[in-house]
Amino acid sequence: MIDANQWIKPYLDKVFDTLDSEDVVVKAASYSLYAGGKRIRPALMHASASLLTGYGVAADDIAPYAACLEMIHTYSLIHDDLPAMDNDDLRRGRATCHKVFGEGIAILAGDMLLNTAHEELLKLAINSESHARASYNISHLAGISGMIGGQSIDIASEGKKITIDTLYELQRKKTGALIEAAVTTPYFISNAPDNILTLLREYACHLGLAFQIKDDILDVDADEEKLGKSVGKDERDDKPTFVTMLGIDNARQKLQDEERGCFDVLDKLSSMKLDVTLLSELTEFNLKRDY
Ligand code: IPE
Ligand code: IPE
Ligand code: MG
Ligand code: MG
Ligand code: MG
Repeated sequence: MIDANQWIKPYLDKVFDTLDSEDVVVKAASYSLYAGGKRIRPALMHASASLLTGYGVAADDIAPYAACLEMIHTYSLIHDDLPAMDNDDLRRGRATCHKVFGEGIAILAGDMLLNTAHEELLKLAINSESHARASYNISHLAGISGMIGGQSIDIASEGKKITIDTLYELQRKKTGALIEAAVTTPYFISNAPDNILTLLREYACHLGLAFQIKDDILDVDADEEKLGKSVGKDERDDKPTFVTMLGIDNARQKLQDEERGCFDVLDKLSSMKLDVTLLSELTEFNLKRDY
């Protein structure tokens, strides 16, 4: 597995170097962005780019997209932690952004990360039609049809009984969409045939579910210090998750099923002579992770 943090850091630094480091919104954004996190979405983008090397993609062409996606993901976490959403105090092993900088500045820091990511995506899009498609893929999946749409269902579902189909839709959008962006964006600057895009989307759909089910399981059984965020909050907030709706054992079974789904797609990609090593490692990592 690459060190995805080191891989995207030069691109994040390049963006932040142009900004006024004394501005409190910039300080708040960099506080959350540089706190770390697993950088799983950049790692997935790198792995997917590696799989497509035979189709004209170089991993380094993709790093700026990975940096943009991580900015968007970090904004979603800053807003997710606000009192009006999940009201959390701990994130990436630190006090949450609003706890340190206040709610107003945390909202603006999230807005800034989102906007800055789109500015950078537009700069990339100017290069060519394929780069415009790659940029659009990220913008679209971060929006109301993707992550924001999922967060909206999440809020609307608090304290309510929802169907298992709604739970799937919620999870697929709120987490699955940015995972799909990570896995599929390299395709758009490749010359791969479209059956590969179909398989990458299928893989991302299983992995997105597996990733959020694991997140829900860790919310009940992780060590808070290791996890870097508070535990037990889904039950506290009466959130429908696979764990709160089906129980921990069924959630663990669903995690296994979705992981199997991922590996079945990887087998198909492998039989097309594509190198699935890095995607396999990340799929395995999600199953075993305890943070
Ligand atoms: C947490 O995402 C929120 C979800 C979408 C489940 P991550 O678990 O990727 O958080 P970081 O980036 O490692 O902090
Ligand atoms: C958040 O899901 C998903 C986002 C889009 C940010 P959660 O609310 O379960 O994420 P955590 O547990 O706070 O990281
Ligand atoms: Mg949430
Ligand atoms: Mg949350
Ligand atoms: Mg969670």
